[in-house]
Amino acid sequence: MTGRRQTDMPESKNLPKHVAIIMDGNGRWARSRGLPRLRGHQKGIESIREIITECTKLDHIEYLTLYAFSSENWKRPQKEVDFLMRLLKRFCRQELKTMVKNGVKFTTIGAVRGLPEDVRVVLDETGRVTKDGDKLTLCLALNYGSRGEIVRAVRKIAGKAASGKISPRTISEDDISAELDTAGMSEPDLVIRTAGEMRLSNFLLWQASYAELYFTDVLWPDFRREHLHEAIDDYTQRVRKFGGLGEDR
Ligand code: FPP
Repeated sequence: MTGRRQTDMPESKNLPKHVAIIMDGNGRWARSRGLPRLRGHQKGIESIREIITECTKLDHIEYLTLYAFSSENWKRPQKEVDFLMRLLKRFCRQELKTMVKNGVKFTTIGAVRGLPEDVRVVLDETGRVTKDGDKLTLCLALNYGSRGEIVRAVRKIAGKAASGKISPRTISEDDISAELDTAGMSEPDLVIRTAGEMRLSNFLLWQASYAELYFTDVLWPDFRREHLHEAIDDYTQRVRKFGGLGEDR
């Protein structure tokens, strides 16, 4: 990961540049209405659309990373997995024009090679068509797990060391960041998790080392722009010290 280093002080007036969201509570949203779980995922797409649009309007936000499908989500019933894959393809196709119009660049992190071929084709196409977007990078974490990502990075680094391209003694934090899927992105400043759960669930464990964490009881399908603003307002009140004493000491 390039951009801000862990030890640098935050840029701009305490406003997050990279917001990452663990979208949770789709199933509970549906259950509380007596609806099938899948309807919760469908409704969650509306929140995704609104949050992307809002982020494109907030100049300080350059990256929005959404945890859309974890490497553990394959354990869900096949019907739900298939539905999520279909939803993902439909989302990319339906939003393509809007993304281009709004300057959104679409990218992914995760073991995308493990996704079905038809999904990969749509993801590639979406990435290609939106590659010049310069307002916001929308990054979907798909078949993503932080530990798996770190293992893949370590394998690449170990390969370079084994072939003599690098010396193990010189491997730095930046070298590791550069092999992660997020290479080239700044680190998340603010990680939001919805639906009352207070854990990271294998999301951006390396990258979020210094992120501010924000938890809300709001279920993802109910999450709207005002909730994003509440999270950002909360973030602006916090003093980020990055292991130091902060500016007022
Ligand atoms: C958690 O809800 C959410 C997910 C499994 C991923 C989020 C997926 C979407 C918002 C829809 C698909 C996304 C795209 C980009 C097409 P949950 O089912 O775990 O909720 P629960 O904990 O209440 O059961």
